[in-house]
Amino acid sequence: MRVAVLSGAGISAESGVPTFRDDKNGLWARFDPYELSSVQGWERNPERVWGWYLWRHYLVGTVEPNAGHRAIADWQKDADVTVITQNVDDLHERAGSSPVHHLHGSLFEFRCAHCNKPFHEELPAMTEPTIEVEPPVCHCGGLIRPDIVWFGEALPQGPWRHAVDAMESADVVVVVGTSAIVYPAAGLPEMALARGTAVVEVNPEPTPLTPYVTLTIRESASRALPGLLERLPTLLK
Ligand code: APR
Repeated sequence: MRVAVLSGAGISAESGVPTFRDDKNGLWARFDPYELSSVQGWERNPERVWGWYLWRHYLVGTVEPNAGHRAIADWQKDADVTVITQNVDDLHERAGSSPVHHLHGSLFEFRCAHCNKPFHEELPAMTEPTIEVEPPVCHCGGLIRPDIVWFGEALPQGPWRHAVDAMESADVVVVVGTSAIVYPAAGLPEMALARGTAVVEVNPEPTPLTPYVTLTIRESASRALPGLLERLPTLLK
């Protein structure tokens, strides 16, 4: 069986990584997510954007994959599983999934905002959140930014191509922990549905995708995913 998984911030929430739209209490909650994740926000205040990403980079290094990530990695024993994630953390990889295609980049990669040269120098550990931090400067004089896809930026072509291929070849698509509102990623399950492929949504809350999916499991990822693959044939009957 070929399984494609599309994951979002909700799967990592139980590991302690705050989601984007649920985190009302975070230090950065008073800033518009757009300001922290757009070229315009970066140009207006690179120090604030860098501070936010440096904190997320540190935080993700301190947390562990949860039962949801591990369940998906386990499915590889019985199925051909491709993981497509909107997450910029590495928790799928650390749980053992392979391949993992990152549609929105990675918290562990950096590049110059001016000349695009990758930046590999070690970053200072940010053990306390700090609202504003000066980004490092590239040899060309440009500022170093996270290699993350911000609002309005194009998705990396390789991961996108793999994602579309996975949607076209999957027998079943599992969509987990995403609010399904950020396109083009949100269009991937629609592609599978248009081909008549079963799409299973795992999310404690309804999303705009919910009315169209084949099956909704309204539970957290760590509760819903272990054992789900074995139960699927019965659930989808
Ligand atoms: N298990 C499963 N789903 C959960 C859990 C959980 N334990 N906790 C929360 N969720 C669900 C929420 O109900 C919500 O629908 O996860 C979803 C998280 O939504 P968002 O915060 O919008 O995250 P995501 O869909 O990944 O965002 C997409 O937006 O800002 C951009 O680039 C960023 O990749 C991100 C994109």
